[in-house]
Amino acid sequence: MSRRKVSILGATGSIGQSTIDLLTAAPERFEVIALTAASNVVQLAADAKRLGARFAAVADERLLPELREALAGSGVETGAGLEALAEAAAGEAEWVMAAIVGCAGLEPVMAAIAAGKTVALANKEALVTAGALMTDAARRSGATILPVDSEHNAIFQCLAGQDIERVSRLILTASGGPFRTRSAEEMARASPAEAVAHPNWSMGAKISVDSATMMNKGLELIEAHYLFGIPSERIDVLVHPQSIVHSLVEYADGSMLAQLGPSDMRVPIAHTLAWPERMETKVVRLDLVAAGRLDFEAPDPGRFPALRLARQALEQGGAAPAVLNAANEIAVAAFLENTIHFGDIARFVEQALQTMNEPAPATIAEVVNLDRRTRDRVRVQVAGIAA
Ligand SMILES: NC(=O)c1ccc[n+]([C@@H]2O[C@H](COP(=O)([O-])OP(=O)(O)OC[C@H]3O[C@@H](n4cnc5c(N)ncnc54)[C@H](OP(=O)(O)O)[C@@H]3O)[C@@H](O)[C@H]2O)c1
Repeated sequence: MSRRKVSILGATGSIGQSTIDLLTAAPERFEVIALTAASNVVQLAADAKRLGARFAAVADERLLPELREALAGSGVETGAGLEALAEAAAGEAEWVMAAIVGCAGLEPVMAAIAAGKTVALANKEALVTAGALMTDAARRSGATILPVDSEHNAIFQCLAGQDIERVSRLILTASGGPFRTRSAEEMARASPAEAVAHPNWSMGAKISVDSATMMNKGLELIEAHYLFGIPSERIDVLVHPQSIVHSLVEYADGSMLAQLGPSDMRVPIAHTLAWPERMETKVVRLDLVAAGRLDFEAPDPGRFPALRLARQALEQGGAAPAVLNAANEIAVAAFLENTIHFGDIARFVEQALQTMNEPAPATIAEVVNLDRRTRDRVRVQVAGIAA
């Protein structure tokens, strides 16, 4: 059997490294073509050599000499900048993991889609920002988008090829994050260290903060709409603190199908790597007796306004989802740099949604332009607070 050719965008991050872990355990099944990073040359070069990749690229062009030096004599070709990332995405691999964090991943993902790849999509911000353009491009090129987010991967598995018309509701589960039981006053002053300390999942800093505000679930609501073609009113969010049930599908006849598994991203990643087959993983199995119970509760819209803002952006349409995402990225970065308080994140997002009421961008260039303008505007407001 020939090996499946794979590439990873965002190879040095949390999802990228989990993917590499699976590839390392099954060298007979996979051949690594390209790996990319933003600036972590050391990790990128080490993985490219170890996995025998053909191409390694960094986003930061100033780091190309360093990457070249680290890979000298290895036979791995090198590149830098957005074009090199797009080259990695559209190259020889048939399966591409999209695991860059934020809208920075949009253009590389679009390059993979335009080239008709099977795209394992972790980079939810790209889909939130350019949902209709991305799904249209996939239809045109024949690309397949497989969801990596554990919730959407769960829904994809529960749908199992069923007609979406038979589905009455999608139910996204949410752990509730580190502040599920904290008061609004405690949350307003929470530190970055407290916000990234997720109770169940080990993830990159940005998505960890998004989990704490529940903007992550808001982005996932928009993601689910674009991935599965279901309107906002048929997508619910349910807090499930144990993160064992990863999401559910309710059918027209009242049946509910759920997917369960350990809180380990290697499970959904492996599902997309082997799809439409299955592969062995060494992931520690879920022990339901040890888990003992499964709890569910409604999310609290008062303490987690991000959820309301994301639903509002989805229902408003036009530029709103892209504005929501860009404002959130800048606000989260400012919070992680200790420039604004935790409670300010949703406020900046709400302000951006109120002031940037525009029609939907018609091209990816327009999306990139809108994203940049929103970032610039929110940065100015953040600087106003910091001054
Ligand atoms: N972590 C999870 O468990 C999880 C679960 C579900 C969905 N996701 C989604 O998966 C994506 C990745 O999350 P993560 O937690 O793996 O993030 P992460 O640990 O922060 O890793 C991000 C990756 O993207 C690269 N990167 C950052 N900025 C970039 C830029 N401007 N241009 C090109 N590459 C850039 C980073 O390179 P450097 O290392 O060089 O900075 C790194 O390889 C996010 O969209 C997140 O929402 C993550």
